[in-house]
Amino acid sequence: MTIVNRHPGVTVIDDRRMRAMIKLTWFGLGLLVACGGKQPAGGGTEEMSGMDMMMSKSMNMSDDDGSQFGPLEIGADWATYVKMNTAPVPSETHGGRLVDTYVNPLGAAAYLDEDAEIPIGTVLVKTSQEPDGTPGPLFVMEKKSPGFDADRGDWYYAIHWADPAPAWKQKLGGPIYWRTPSKRAAYCVECHENYDRGLGGVPAPQRLQSLPE
Ligand code: HEC
Repeated sequence: MTIVNRHPGVTVIDDRRMRAMIKLTWFGLGLLVACGGKQPAGGGTEEMSGMDMMMSKSMNMSDDDGSQFGPLEIGADWATYVKMNTAPVPSETHGGRLVDTYVNPLGAAAYLDEDAEIPIGTVLVKTSQEPDGTPGPLFVMEKKSPGFDADRGDWYYAIHWADPAPAWKQKLGGPIYWRTPSKRAAYCVECHENYDRGLGGVPAPQRLQSLPE
């Protein structure tokens, strides 16, 4: 099976992940926009149409609470967080976009320990870089109090892209900030809820082993 939707940097896919991936082919295509996408240089057909599908789906949704652009709120202080990868995590399938994962000090130890419960107030920010080195979208999650979204781990999601690369700017219509409860951010949870604790995790080769002193 060709996993065109494989998330960047995931080199080891266990059965659970594989099942999730198969189940989520459509959302995986959305992921090209979301967690790891870039526009295929050669105008790749399958991936491209998947992206366009995802894009137009979100773009055609009417504005709602959480789709107005503005400065990043939750996660804006990500540069002070603990970086959870020891080297940039490359997107194998999409020609070189790199991502880094940051977790605030409150949640860093729990993020490393797969058996730990993620504390309320944990904020995760994934930064990304376009192949030309310009900033890609920021991806944000926050662990909210029980009841926020009880069936799906009580996670808040946001994608923020203040200055989309030219190829994206036109499609997106400008900068974006889609966040829970916007329908435009709903595809984040559709995928993440399939992972233990709602977390995709840093792939083993780049994973931080212990917290810095
Ligand atoms: C098709 C599945 C999928 C979709 C859709 C998706 N993600 Fe992810 N996400 C993952 C996987 C797998 C990882 C871990 C690998 C990586 O970081 O590349 C991850 C990692 C993350 C991380 C780092 C924390 C962690 O370990 O999970 C954040 C933050 C994040 N995603 C936010 C988002 C947001 C916000 C959206 C929606 C705009 C989104 N994701 C859409 C699968 C997905």
